[in-house]
Amino acid sequence: MLKGKHIILGVTGSIAAYKSAVLCRLLVSAGAEVKVVMTNLAKQFITPLTMATVSKNPILVDFFNPENGEWNSHVKLGEWADLYLIAPASANTMAKMAAGVADNLLLTTYLSARCPVAVAPAMDLDMYAHVATQRNMEQLKQDGVHIIEPGSGFLASGLIGKGRMAEPQDIVEAVEAIFASETTNHQKKKSLEGKRFLVTAGATIEPIDPVRFISNHSSGKMGYAVAESLAKRGAEVVLVSGRTALEKPQGVECVDVLSAEEMFEACVERFSKMDGAVMCAAVADYTPQVVAQDKIKKNDDDMSIALKRTRDIAAHLGQHKREGQVLVGFAMETENEEQNATGKLAKKNLDFIVMNSLRKEGAGFRGDTNIVSLIDSHEKVDLPLMSKADVAERIVDKIESFL
Ligand code: CTP
Repeated sequence: MLKGKHIILGVTGSIAAYKSAVLCRLLVSAGAEVKVVMTNLAKQFITPLTMATVSKNPILVDFFNPENGEWNSHVKLGEWADLYLIAPASANTMAKMAAGVADNLLLTTYLSARCPVAVAPAMDLDMYAHVATQRNMEQLKQDGVHIIEPGSGFLASGLIGKGRMAEPQDIVEAVEAIFASETTNHQKKKSLEGKRFLVTAGATIEPIDPVRFISNHSSGKMGYAVAESLAKRGAEVVLVSGRTALEKPQGVECVDVLSAEEMFEACVERFSKMDGAVMCAAVADYTPQVVAQDKIKKNDDDMSIALKRTRDIAAHLGQHKREGQVLVGFAMETENEEQNATGKLAKKNLDFIVMNSLRKEGAGFRGDTNIVSLIDSHEKVDLPLMSKADVAERIVDKIESFL
């Protein structure tokens, strides 16, 4: 598991630094290549000579070598690494990491690292339990840092409690688990290789005359997030997009349309070649019966515009869906949410529907978050407030369960 892996081992000023030598030796024996970065204080606890000998690499402490001015590039180091493991991680270093402070090489390397980062905290029990330390660790977790929990027992202070750095062997096992989960994530990301999906997004525009139109508030964010998430997992994606102000997602074929009719044509033409479709667009249900050739001039009377029904794209695809194709719809409701959504699920022959209520704060148009329920013919799963990107991931997880 660790063979050939590039690991940066960060050592900070803590009495537990004496265990870093054993940890380094275990990582090297397991086949990893290890480069050690130390803080100045860490050198007081374990010598650079010891760490250089066990890691088989020179130790990095300063931004440059004072003898010859050679630059220790934290950027290159960050790019080189498959994992940045900071063990021991002192309360001080974790606080700085949480705040983005970059006043030594160990911290600038953290900010430059593109790889997973893990910390093994080590400190006295009161420092560990302090609300500030707990808050910083919570922040690090939210930032995606893996925390390798300290153990309980005798501490250097003579007190007994939680704060003792995890044993080197346990840290190695945690590191292996991180690499294993990264591999699973990578496989998950490519799980839709060879599959093709159609996604609709944004608002349609129904012209009244050369100047005016009927449209709606859809930003397109949810549909673009779904297209991106499908593409990230290796699917070929065609995004049929109405009006949005968004940048086109990477690795996705985009077809720009304006009216509901244009969107209908673009989707119907492509659907048979697809493994599924996700209908995120806010499609106008009505369009002007006649589009005036010239700009309509006002007069003193009130006016009305005669509208006719547009064709329902989702319902049409539902009627023509073949075995194995997955069709997903959205329902944005303001009342009787569940009843309306399940009605649409059946009427449009969808496999599942993503229901959101405009009554909930954090859900709906324009924002970056959503609160949705995923409803199929068997169950309704209520998701909490999430970013639209995370909602997209959950939708794509559910699509995978239908394939
Ligand atoms: N939809 C579509 N084509 C249309 C209208 C809607 O493909 N002409 C899709 C939407 O993209 C969405 C789902 O159908 O996935 C639900 O759309 P919505 O407008 O909420 O439902 P309607 O069936 O139009 O019902 P109502 O207007 O009564 O809410």
